[in-house]
Amino acid sequence: MKIAVVREILAGERRVALVPESCGKLVKAGIQVAVERGAGEDAFFPDEVYLAAGAEISGEPAALLASADFVLKVQPPFDASISGHDEIGALREGAMLLGTLLPARHPGLADKLAARRITAFATDRIPRISRAQSMDTLSSMANIAGYKAVLIAANALPRFFPMLMTAAGTVTPARVFVIGAGVAGLQAVATARRLGAVVEATDTRPVAKEQIESLGARFVGVDAGAEAQDAGGYARELSPEFYRRQGELIAERCAASDVVITTALIGGVKAPRLVTADMVAAMKPGSVLVDVSAEGGGNCELTRPGETVVVNGVTIFGPTNLPSEVPWHASTLYSRNLTAFILAFWKDGAFTLDQADEIQKAAMITHHGKVLLPGGATP
Ligand code: NAI
Repeated sequence: MKIAVVREILAGERRVALVPESCGKLVKAGIQVAVERGAGEDAFFPDEVYLAAGAEISGEPAALLASADFVLKVQPPFDASISGHDEIGALREGAMLLGTLLPARHPGLADKLAARRITAFATDRIPRISRAQSMDTLSSMANIAGYKAVLIAANALPRFFPMLMTAAGTVTPARVFVIGAGVAGLQAVATARRLGAVVEATDTRPVAKEQIESLGARFVGVDAGAEAQDAGGYARELSPEFYRRQGELIAERCAASDVVITTALIGGVKAPRLVTADMVAAMKPGSVLVDVSAEGGGNCELTRPGETVVVNGVTIFGPTNLPSEVPWHASTLYSRNLTAFILAFWKDGAFTLDQADEIQKAAMITHHGKVLLPGGATP
C-alpha cells in the first residue's frame, strides 16, 4: 500500500498530515510512504528528515495523488472550482482518504468524493470512545487551540496575567473567564492558571465542575441538570429559560473579567451564541475576548471569523485556525492520530475495510460511489 502526503494548499495552513516520526512507524509496518517536496517545511520538518525516516520525496503533487492508495490530509481536498488545484480530480478512483473533512461545514464535498469513488474517512466523525482516543484529531487540535487562545489574550491584554510584587507596588492578577470547559476550555483554564491569572469557568455539563476545580479555577454556573449531556458525552441544546438565566450570569462574569475565552459547542457541531453585543458593551475597556468557536459561527455576537475587531475598547479575536499557529506540535499530534487509525486496521500487509467496526462506520463518509452521511447526501 502506498500512502501519499501532499503540501496543504489552504492559505495560511502550516500543518502537514504526516511527520517523519510517523513515516518511520508506517514504513516499519511495511507501508510505502511518499511525501510532496516541501510538504513539512512550514511546520519545520525538512525533506531530508522524511528521507531518513524511509519516505520517498516527490516533486509532482498531481502524480503523487494519482499513484496513491491512501491519501492523508489536514484540510479537506480542494477541487478546481475552488482553488485551481484539483486535488479531488487528481485522486485515483477507489483510493482511500483520511483527514479532517468536516462534511457539515463543506457542503458538496462528500458528493464530489463519492463521484470519484473515494473511500473517505473524516477524522472529525471518529467517536469519542476509549478505543479511538489515540485517533481523536479534534481533541488534539482543540487542546492546542485552548492553549494558543490564552497566549493571544495575554499578548493583547494591557495588563499582567500574574500577581506581581514589585518595588513600585503590588500588581493584582488578571481575571480570566472561560465559557465552555470541554477539551479547548480546560486547556485554556490550565494555561491561564499557569500564567498566574485568577480563573473562573462555566459549562452546562455537571461533570465539568470537578474538572474545572481540579485545575485550580472556580466553577460558576447555572444548574442544567443531567439532561445537559447526551449519551456520547456532548452537550445538549437547553431550554430558552436556561439560556436566559445563564445569560445573566455570563453578563455579570464578563463585566468582571479582563479576559474572556469562549469555547462552547453543542453536540460536537453547533456554536451557541452566548455573549451578546450588550454584554461586550459592559466589559472593561482594554479587556480581550478570544472566540475559539469562531469557525463554527462564534459564541459572541460580535465575532468576525478570521478577523480581530475592537468594540468599545474591547478587542475580540475570531481565530479560525489556531492549531496552524503551533505547526510543529499540531502536525506531530495530528500525524500520530492518523497513524494510530491506519495501524489499528493494518492486518496481514493490508488496510482492512470493515464497515461493521464502530470507528470505521462512524468515520466513513463515502464508499463505492455512495455518500454515507445521514440522509444520503452532504448536509
Ligand atoms: P467540546 O465539545 O469538547 O467542548 C465544548 C464545551 O462547551 C462542552 O464542554 C459543552 O458542555 C460546553 N457548552 C455547550 N453549551 C454551553 C453553554 N451554553 N455554556 C457553557 N458551556 C457550554 O469541544 P472542543 O473540542 O473543546 O472545541 C471547542 C471549540 O473550539 C469548538 O467550537 C471547536 O470548533 C473550536 N476549535 C477551534 C479551533 C480554532 O482554530 N479556532 C481549533 C480547534 C477547535
